[in-house]
Amino acid sequence: MTSPSNLPEPTAEIVAVQDDLVTIAPTGDTPLVKNEVIYIIPHGPEREGGRREYLKAEVLRVRGPAAEAQVFESTSGVRIGDKVIQTGEMLSVALGPGLLSGVFDGLQNPLAEIAAQHGFFLPRGVLVNPLDTVRKWAFTPKAKAGDILKAGDVIGTVPEGRFEHRIMVPFAMPGEVTVDRIREGSFSIEEVVATVRDGRGQTHDLGLIQRWPVRRPIPEPLVSLGQVERLYPSEPLITTIRLIDTFFPIARGGMGCIPGPFGAGKTVLQSLISRFSAVDIVIVVACGERAGEVVETITEFPSQPDPSGQGTLMDRTVIICNTSSMPVAAREASIYTGITLGEYYRQMGYDVLLIADSTSRWAQAMRETSGRLEEIPGEEAFPAYLDSAVKGIYERAGVIRLADGSLGSLTMIGTVSPAGGNFEEPVTQATLGTVKAFLGLSYDRAYKRFYPAVDPLLSWSRYHPQLAEWYRDHIDAGWAGRVEEMVGLLRRGDEIARMMQVTGEEGVSIDDFVTQQKALFLDMVYLQQDAFDDVDASAPLKRQQETFDIVMLVAKRDFEFGDKTAARDFFTRLTGMFKNLNYAAEGSQERSDLRTQLLAAIDAAPQRYQAAAE
Ligand SMILES: Nc1ncnc2c1ncn2[C@@H]1O[C@H](COP(=O)(O)OP(=O)(O)OP(=O)(O)O)[C@@H](O)[C@H]1O
Ligand SMILES: [Mg+2]
Repeated sequence: MTSPSNLPEPTAEIVAVQDDLVTIAPTGDTPLVKNEVIYIIPHGPEREGGRREYLKAEVLRVRGPAAEAQVFESTSGVRIGDKVIQTGEMLSVALGPGLLSGVFDGLQNPLAEIAAQHGFFLPRGVLVNPLDTVRKWAFTPKAKAGDILKAGDVIGTVPEGRFEHRIMVPFAMPGEVTVDRIREGSFSIEEVVATVRDGRGQTHDLGLIQRWPVRRPIPEPLVSLGQVERLYPSEPLITTIRLIDTFFPIARGGMGCIPGPFGAGKTVLQSLISRFSAVDIVIVVACGERAGEVVETITEFPSQPDPSGQGTLMDRTVIICNTSSMPVAAREASIYTGITLGEYYRQMGYDVLLIADSTSRWAQAMRETSGRLEEIPGEEAFPAYLDSAVKGIYERAGVIRLADGSLGSLTMIGTVSPAGGNFEEPVTQATLGTVKAFLGLSYDRAYKRFYPAVDPLLSWSRYHPQLAEWYRDHIDAGWAGRVEEMVGLLRRGDEIARMMQVTGEEGVSIDDFVTQQKALFLDMVYLQQDAFDDVDASAPLKRQQETFDIVMLVAKRDFEFGDKTAARDFFTRLTGMFKNLNYAAEGSQERSDLRTQLLAAIDAAPQRYQAAAE
């Protein structure tokens, strides 16, 4: 791993500095390589008896004899003539046991570790191993001497908390290798556990970790080796949030976005999704949010119990966080770091959820860098490649089949925070053109405290056709149609509500008024969900179906009220009863009593004729 002792000698020097962009020129004949990681050694501190600093940077563009690199740390004090180390390695992460529960910055610096060594603030230019190099892991070989393996094949496992962490042949290994030696026991991540020999007779020592360049999808080499097959997502990711699962499902291994104006509830919704979704592992990328929010993420998340009943949430979570005070380049990298970790656990056959908050900050970082490179700008000064960059990150989500037949998935959900809530801006538009589920938050709903403030008339999911078969098998063939019908009711209710705003209640017929009340009822008791109630916060799919059926019953009933006041009173009372039902624990006597009372109240309401066979 990276430590001052195994870095090569400096082979280049600084020739220009502009904010966090530097220009370097070689001093020897080591070629400059695009996307290579370099370290700048500012001349000052060491000479003054201080610690030698290594400022990490990434080469963005090679132009003739010089190259421009973005520096991931403050460049203050960096001068022309400062020495530069070329690593020849792309921006990479360490993949191995010990990632779970970790809190890293965008370059995989372990924040807790750094705080322990250097106090709360991350000093500039220190090199810290991302993973604990002392801790021992119990390694159980799965391969034996003589086995012929390929990249991605499992050589053994170590327990990482409650997960089985598969140790795999490095993804970059070309062709087949033969296992020479493999040993069982307790090892630190840097010890050799196996030796393999490739087709040319060259041996490779394998430890518990491998490095991987973050900008390259892990499956890329594995697909061509036949080790990984990409599949279409065909199951919903059950989030236990009614509005999502019923109306705007996101496929497991799919991609969704949550755009919304300032303060509309993007972060809260994302953390609900990460807490309750049916996934094994969660990667949280907090890129460039306010520092306070990041601290909240770090301090609150760890202590929360995992709703699955096992341990805490943090046991299955990796947090990548950058505050807006960190240099933009580190922010830009953080999303790739997060995705790569997600792909790594997917490669072990896990269901992984990656949430990125917010991708707007990431795009802004890209814009700043692009501006400094004086690239030709696109809309609103974002780089012309914004669209392809957005696609590039979301498309790393997906379902894969591994060589042993098991499946893994990486679902990706990003928030977008468009200035002024204007969804026409480039980042939202690029995201909408990429993702297949869109949960648009509205300021109006947030203002009314209708949470989650997802606007049901604005949002969509394109996963319905892909998931139809799953719904048919797990609910029934009519589910999609019924959901569609309820979206129709919301639409009609909205039209009538708008009309009433102009004409007042007197301006609409009693029938229209009742339709509007039904739509409001559906909104109040089904779309809205109380994140702060222990029971209501999470509604399993079966419970959603049950409540949906009752809402549907109300929606279809042909009520006949004497006047609008009677209608309103009825729906107000019903809404109150239904909310209590939502708060009542599954399987409790209370719930079954409330259900009986609710159904009786519906039956007792006056109606035109008894609907047949309900
Ligand atoms: N589901 C919810 N239930 C109750 N309150 C909520 C819910 N969602 C959001 N809120 C309230 O709205 C506030 C802002 O939410 P949140 O921080 O998620 O907004 P945001 O869209 O992420 O804002 P920003 O644009 O600043 O990042 C929360 O602190 C909370 O008070
Ligand atoms: Mg937020």
